[in-house]
Parts: sequence; structure tokens; C-alpha cells
Amino acid sequence: MKKLPTNRMKIKAQLNHMKYTIIGALSIIVITTLGCTKEKDANAAIPCDTTNTTYSVTVTGLLRNYGCLGCHVGPNPVGNIQLGNYSSVKQLADNGKLFGSINWSPGFSKMPQGAPKMADCDISKIKAWIDAGAPNN
Ligand code: HEC
Repeated sequence: MKKLPTNRMKIKAQLNHMKYTIIGALSIIVITTLGCTKEKDANAAIPCDTTNTTYSVTVTGLLRNYGCLGCHVGPNPVGNIQLGNYSSVKQLADNGKLFGSINWSPGFSKMPQGAPKMADCDISKIKAWIDAGAPNN
């Protein structure tokens, strides 16, 4: 007879524990969802400015920032892909390999190799430069 209240208390405590676990899990889901929604909205609010993209500032800056130059410069660039000078980059822009690789288009090697894809806006900037005829500006 004495055991009954103890068992009941145990069950009550277990139920309470479950309740808080469920509330905790739900809170995490809600917070994560809200966080992601906010992030998306914030990104959507920032327009991607692809005007005034130049080889000398925009393109070389992005190639440096995304680590492309770590593999693709010097006398023996990886994959025999040279990104260290204008005429080579221009050639890759004109034959579609530059855009195909950073856009992860089918049939091209995904670049930067072994790293996440470039941000959409940065890909758009390089595309704008290519579409403008890949000038040496
Ligand atoms: C860790 C080294 C490494 C980095 C960093 C890297 N690449 Fe490459 N890249 C390679 C290798 C290796 C190949 C050749 C083999 C292959 O196609 O996978 C290659 C091939 C390419 C090609 C030819 C693609 C094709 O399909 O013919 C292009 C263009 C290119 N890279 C551009 C870039 C650009 C732009 C970046 C930066 C966004 C970059 N790479 C970053 C290693 C790298």
C-alpha cells in the first residue's frame, strides 16, 4: 500500500519530464524555423548588384576570396587551368568552363573543388562580366 503513491509520483515525474522534453524540442524547431525565415528575408532584401563588375576588381577579387588562386596559378596550375592572368581567364570565360564550373552546371567539374558553392550573388557577378564579353577592365 505504501508503494502506490511512490509509483504514482514516479509516473507523474516521468510524464512531466516527457512534457518538458516535447516542449523543448518544439521550441528548438520553432526557433530554427523562425531563424531560417528571417535569414531568407534578410537575403531577399539585399539586392544583388551586378553593375560595374570588372575583371581587375570584381573577378580577380572573387577568385582570390574563394581560394581558386590557391590551385590555379603559377607555372603548373592544377588541372592545367590557369586563373592567374587575364588572357587565360578570358579564354575560360569564352568557352563556358568558368561559368559552368562555378555554377555547378552538368558536364563541368564543380568549383571551388572540395569547398561549398560560391554565393549566388557572386556567381551572378561573374556571369554579368562574362555576358558583357569578359572585357579586360
Ligand atoms: C583544391 C584545388 C582547387 C581549387 C581551390 C579550385 N579548383 Fe578548379 N580545378 C581543380 C582541379 C584538380 C581541376 C581539374 C580536374 C577537374 O576538372 O576536376 C579543376 C578544374 C577547373 C576548371 C575546368 C573545369 C572543367 O569542367 O573543365 C575550371 C574552370 C576551374 N577549375 C575553375 C576554378 C574556380 C573558378 C575556382 C574557385 C571558385 C576553383 N577552380 C577552385 C582544383 C581546384
